Amino acid sequence: MSDEKKKRGTEELPLLQKVVSLCKRRGFVFQSSEIYGGLKSAYDYGPLGAELKRNVMQEWWRSMVHEREDVVGLDASIIMSPKVWEASGHVSGFSDPLVDCKLCKARFRADKAPQVPKGSEVTYRREGKTLKAVADRGYVCPECGGVELSEERAFNLMFKTNLGPIESPDSTVYLRPETAQAMFVNFLNVQQTYRLKVPFGIAQQGKSFRNEITVEHFIFRSCEFEQMEMEFFCEPEESDKWLEYWKNERFEWYVRLGAKRENLRLRAHEKDELAHYARGCYDVEYLYPWGWDELEGIANRTDYDLRKHQEASGKKLTYFDPNRPNPETGKPGVHFLPYVIEPAAGATRATLMFLLDAYHEEPPSEARAEGRVVLRLHPRLAPIKVAVLPLVKKDEWLQGKSREIVKEFWKSSVNAFYDEKDAIGRRYARQDEAGTPFCITIDGETRENDTVTIRTRDDMRQERIKVEEAVDVVLRKMRE
Ligand code: GAP
Repeated sequence: MSDEKKKRGTEELPLLQKVVSLCKRRGFVFQSSEIYGGLKSAYDYGPLGAELKRNVMQEWWRSMVHEREDVVGLDASIIMSPKVWEASGHVSGFSDPLVDCKLCKARFRADKAPQVPKGSEVTYRREGKTLKAVADRGYVCPECGGVELSEERAFNLMFKTNLGPIESPDSTVYLRPETAQAMFVNFLNVQQTYRLKVPFGIAQQGKSFRNEITVEHFIFRSCEFEQMEMEFFCEPEESDKWLEYWKNERFEWYVRLGAKRENLRLRAHEKDELAHYARGCYDVEYLYPWGWDELEGIANRTDYDLRKHQEASGKKLTYFDPNRPNPETGKPGVHFLPYVIEPAAGATRATLMFLLDAYHEEPPSEARAEGRVVLRLHPRLAPIKVAVLPLVKKDEWLQGKSREIVKEFWKSSVNAFYDEKDAIGRRYARQDEAGTPFCITIDGETRENDTVTIRTRDDMRQERIKVEEAVDVVLRKMRE
């Protein structure tokens, strides 16, 4: 990790391990193909994880598509024509610099290796001996610290496969490494069928694939992951303004969903960090247990992509604005290639961020004799919104009433969960670890006066409410 990255306090360093262990214990995330020893960097989302990831993606879609007049959705094919990736520059340029260590045989990315000043003397250990050498590369092997390294080779990150039965260069296709390109190649399809006027955006979510050399930090970087991207087409002169707008909008989205503001920051890219086509870029960064690192990028991609696809396909991709004056004639009406602002987020990475941010360990208190682990997820993100619990198990009336209440929640599309196993304290503890914001308990009093208790996850307070109010109370609290 580079020095400038600020670590979270040492007491929080094992946080990642704690979250990984909670994820396995409670069924958020499992290692893929575990019974066969697992597959490097592949993960499966269990019952709670599938709900959490789905909620993260649903909230993004709600704020980016449903609650806006200027953005529409797209769900494109993962396998596209290989010409798309030639035109976008991915076939020739989407690569990482790969290096082999001649001493310990480690294979690593040059840009991720520990950096040292070029020409400086470094010491490293080999077969029990301490050796000295001059680092003429500016980095050393991340495994053994040595400097006897192979040349850097460009390693393309796209997964290749074949379309059809014959494996030949003509049938090569790629799994998309980003969702973005489908928005560019469908720009006019969407604009014309929906009669959209610039500025407008096209949003898409879904799987992307990169043959990453270094996979790290659990689901932070994996070879198969999910993205949430939006391409916002605007007039070139307005692109700086829209970049400002979208970087703020995207930052606040995480905060609105409960992420702690102090764990988030916006970082402008330095000129030498910018992709060659980008005019400006911000990263939303999160303070992960290993330091500040990327959560989402918001870039001004100029008209680079539309221009490249226009050139390569020979199809005009310009937008006609009947009101904008033509610079040559001075009369209204001009064809031009819009600029694009792209907020590009990772859904699986955001899921990890929300888990890390929500994880709390609470010591024993007056309210609880035992300490507890609680996931303080925003109610909208919580996998289960409400657990409905009959106080005692062997009471058919309580069970029947509880199941009736569960069904009432389902009718309002609230994910309610029925649980009768174990003592009530253990059931609360399970729901705290699952991040369930509310527990409703049905007891003897319910039979007498049709009331239940509702317990709030974060302060563990309980109040009695009427059964018929239960759905409204939970829905209201979810909106707060
Ligand atoms: N269309 C632009 C683009 O794809 P990117 O910065 O390469 O930009 C956008 O990816 C986001 O996708 C990242 O900020 C990150 O959240 C997520 N992402 C990228 N590679 C990933 C990987 N290997 N594993 C998990 N998430 C990844």
